[in-house]
Order: sequence, then C-alpha cells, then structure tokens
Amino acid sequence: MDLQLRDKVAWVLGASSGLGRASAESLGREGARVAVSARRAGALDEVVGAIGSSAVAVPLDVTDSAAIGTAAKEVVSRLGAIDILIVNAGGPRPGGFEATGADELARGFDLTLASAWHLAKQVVPAMKERGRGCVIFITSSSTKEVIPSLLLSNMMRAAVVGMAKTMSKELGPKGIRVLCVAPGRIETPRVVSLDENAAEASGRGISEVRNESEARIPLGRYGQPREFGDVVAFLASERASYVSGITVTVDGGALNGILS
Ligand SMILES: NC(=O)c1ccc[n+]([C@@H]2O[C@H](COP(=O)([O-])OP(=O)(O)OC[C@H]3O[C@@H](n4cnc5c(N)ncnc54)[C@H](OP(=O)(O)O)[C@@H]3O)[C@@H](O)[C@H]2O)c1
Repeated sequence: MDLQLRDKVAWVLGASSGLGRASAESLGREGARVAVSARRAGALDEVVGAIGSSAVAVPLDVTDSAAIGTAAKEVVSRLGAIDILIVNAGGPRPGGFEATGADELARGFDLTLASAWHLAKQVVPAMKERGRGCVIFITSSSTKEVIPSLLLSNMMRAAVVGMAKTMSKELGPKGIRVLCVAPGRIETPRVVSLDENAAEASGRGISEVRNESEARIPLGRYGQPREFGDVVAFLASERASYVSGITVTVDGGALNGILS
C-alpha cells in the first residue's frame, strides 16, 4: 500500500525520543520530509541522522509559547508548508489528587494542554488556506480509562481530546483532519525508566515488574515504538483520508471498555 506521504511536510514534536521519534522515523521511511522538535538539540541531530537528509532539527521547548511561533516559521522556511502536525511532549508529573499542588497543575497545563493549543493555533491557519492538512495529538490510553495515580495526565489529556474533537468538527469542512492516537504501554526509554523506578520502590526485580505489567495486556507484551509510529504514519496519510475526530488506541488490547 502506498501511503502517498512522499514529499509531504510533517512537523513532529517531542521527537528526540520514544513515540515522537518513532513517528518521525515512520513518516520519514514513507518519504515525508520531517522537521523534528524537542529541547535537546544533540538528540535531535541523532534522529535527523537516522531519518536521512530530508529531515531537519528545530529545537523547541513547547512550554515557551512565543518560541512556538518562531519554530513554526523556521519549519516552513526550511521545508515548506506543513501538511502534517504531530503534537507530543513528555508526560505531566505523576501523582494523585491529594499529592498534586497548584504549581504542578500550572506546569501540567503548560506542557500538555496549552502547548497543544499554541501549536495547533500556529499551524492550522496555513492548512486552512491550502484546504488540506492533518493534525494528530499523541495522548494516552488514560483518556479512555483513567490511571488513578496520574491526575494531571487524566485531566489535561481529556481536555486535549475535547479540543481535538471540536477542531475536527470546525476544520473538517476546510479539508483538515484532526485525530488523537493513544498509547497504552509502548517500550520507550520513559517506560523502561518507569519500570526501573517501580522495581526500586517495591524492592522487586525489573523483570518481575515488567512481567506483571505484560500479563495485563492481551497481546502479552509491550508495544514497540515502531508499531506505534507506523499507526501514526498511516493515520496521517491519504490512506486514512476519511478518518477524523476519533482517538485510535495502540495498546495491545489492554483497555477493558467496549468503546475503547
Ligand atoms: N510510552 C508509552 O507507553 C506512553 C503511554 C501513555 C502515554 N504516553 C505519553 O506519550 C508521550 C511520549 O511518551 P514517550 O514514552 O515517548 O516519552 P519520552 O521517551 O520521555 O519522550 C518525550 C519526548 O518529549 C520531549 N519533551 C519533553 N518535554 C518537552 C518540552 N517541554 N518541550 C519540547 N519537548 C519536550 C522529550 O525531548 P527533550 O527532553 O529533548 O525535550 C522527548 O522527545 C508522553 O506525554 C507520555 O506521557 C506514553
């Protein structure tokens, strides 16, 4: 199947690691010209090296709303008009309701919700003018089944889904598709370090913690980043041209709800 991504311009955020990097690499493999952003310039250069000469690095801290505009202009000047925007960043700080203070609430808002809003605000007007585009927000399976110890993720990502759904209604008539992709447990550096922390906190071995986690997944294992990135690339492509306004879950069947 030809995804018809050749020479499409994609801007992928949170692309120095994990799911963002995997999404950028999948898009790059399909021939898209990819701009990768995150804070660590050195790590971005490595990703550009892995994708090849059609990729460019545009360092950016997504909590700096003014810098988002500058970065968006740089992407357009180096690669041309943006066809695909993949919104992603690190997860907000873990903790339940009682353990979360007002400062953390504000930081979680800036990192997960406000950044998504500012990025979309920068990129969508030009998509509208051209009458085409695709915006994908990387969220979490917590938008379908809350994770009790992750208050900020549960709160902010649900708001991102609300924004995405609203955008899909408003922008569909302008030729713009808007979607969310929700990972369950994908084996990124972050997930590996979460397992290490859980093992240390409980005095158990890492393999015991991981086995317990994998036993809750019907496919019996963590997903690989490429399995996630390939779904993002497909959804961003012309082959998914009639898919908009939904959240696609990539979780090996882990969620229990019938609407998952
Ligand atoms: N992996 C999973 O199974 C899973 C499951 C559910 C939800 N998620 C969510 O999906 C997202 C990606 O997860 P991941 O596992 O790929 O995490 P990761 O490996 O930690 O990658 C996070 C990426 O975001 C970038 N980033 C963090 N803060 C940023 C900021 N302020 N500005 C710009 N870039 C920033 C990081 O790069 P720099 O450090 O270079 O900035 C990195 O490239 C996270 O929000 C995570 O909570 C992941």
